[in-house]
Amino acid sequence: MTSAAFTVIGAPGDRRTALFAAACRAAGLPGPLVIGWHDVLTATSLDIGAAGDGTLVRIDSPGEDAAVDALLRGPGEPARVGGGARWYRTFTAGLSRIAAEADRAGARLLNDVDDIAVMCDKRRCHARLRAAGVPVPEALPPVSSYAELRTRMAEARMHRVFVKAAHGSSASGVIALQTAPGGRVKAVTSAIPTGFGYVNSLRVRSYETEAEVADLVDALAPDGLHVERWFPKAALDGRVLDLRVVVVAGEPTHAVVRTSRSPMTNLHLGGARGDLGAVRRAMGEDSWRDALDVCARAAACFPGSLMVGVDLLVRIGWRGYAVGEVNAFGDLLPGLTGLPGSGAEGIDTYTAQVRAALSGNLPACTT
Ligand SMILES: Nc1ncnc2c1ncn2[C@@H]1O[C@H](COP(=O)(O)OP(=O)(O)O)[C@@H](O)[C@H]1O
Ligand SMILES: [Mg+2]
Repeated sequence: MTSAAFTVIGAPGDRRTALFAAACRAAGLPGPLVIGWHDVLTATSLDIGAAGDGTLVRIDSPGEDAAVDALLRGPGEPARVGGGARWYRTFTAGLSRIAAEADRAGARLLNDVDDIAVMCDKRRCHARLRAAGVPVPEALPPVSSYAELRTRMAEARMHRVFVKAAHGSSASGVIALQTAPGGRVKAVTSAIPTGFGYVNSLRVRSYETEAEVADLVDALAPDGLHVERWFPKAALDGRVLDLRVVVVAGEPTHAVVRTSRSPMTNLHLGGARGDLGAVRRAMGEDSWRDALDVCARAAACFPGSLMVGVDLLVRIGWRGYAVGEVNAFGDLLPGLTGLPGSGAEGIDTYTAQVRAALSGNLPACTT
């Protein structure tokens, strides 16, 4: 057992930071030292070592702070879609700074910065999973415009695809696109056009003219796109679903079913938590174990990360899976306790990580 205190790099005062601090206190430790992303991006010194030699550093999401968002993406309306390429450049420069300063301070990162950088680029994440033999939906070659998208879709005989902003999250810049002969198209997305570009709304809507869809795709394309085959997801009670599975120290510990009437299951878009017991019954126990094994294999592609959150798509008919993405910051599931028999039974995602780290179950050092 180590007594080294934790340091969190995140958004001071947000829910993620508060929940992790609560998990530290529940383990009898003082709350972590919190360093804000604002400081990572602007301060002359970070002082990562202030919590003591050997402090364990958890890198968390920059959160939704408007000032930090403006530093990452540049000034503008916080709800706007886009800016991902600049966001990624600034964010990964921040990650490099954290790694260098942690190294100097003798601190131990709980999540490898290169792993985080790969997970925050849907193209690189998909490629890494695919190379490891983890099932993923087939991807199209890179596209940089709507016209090119349609050409590549036709070549691959893909009529239904998910178009994703390479650096998006929370369904920002995600389009579920179907095409049919005669020029018919239907795009479902949370983006709505305004006088100053597209913004994210809290509900999804459809666009059914080619001019609208082309305008949207062309607006997103400069920041990078990842396009993959639309995986037909299983449904319960008329709602499609996927699973968010949190993997801590290599073990799938927490799972939540996300269900929706729209093709996107993200909870803030009207998605709702579904009945995990019903999903397990529908899958059968063998298939459920296979599903968790896929999640563990996806997590193993990020060996420097104490925790990842896997989005697992379950095929209609319940007998096949694909990983939709792996999230570096995928553990914000307040109140969710661990799977029976997982070692995290009765505890939340944050407590599971604190316990794993304290028992020396640390990720491989890769940087
Ligand atoms: N290839 C796919 N086929 C079907 N549904 C998908 C596919 N990829 C993603 N989804 C769905 O779209 C939603 C958002 O996609 P995701 O890649 O997880 O992006 P985000 O980072 O915005 O969460 C998820 O609810 C997921 O179920
Ligand atoms: Mg997701």
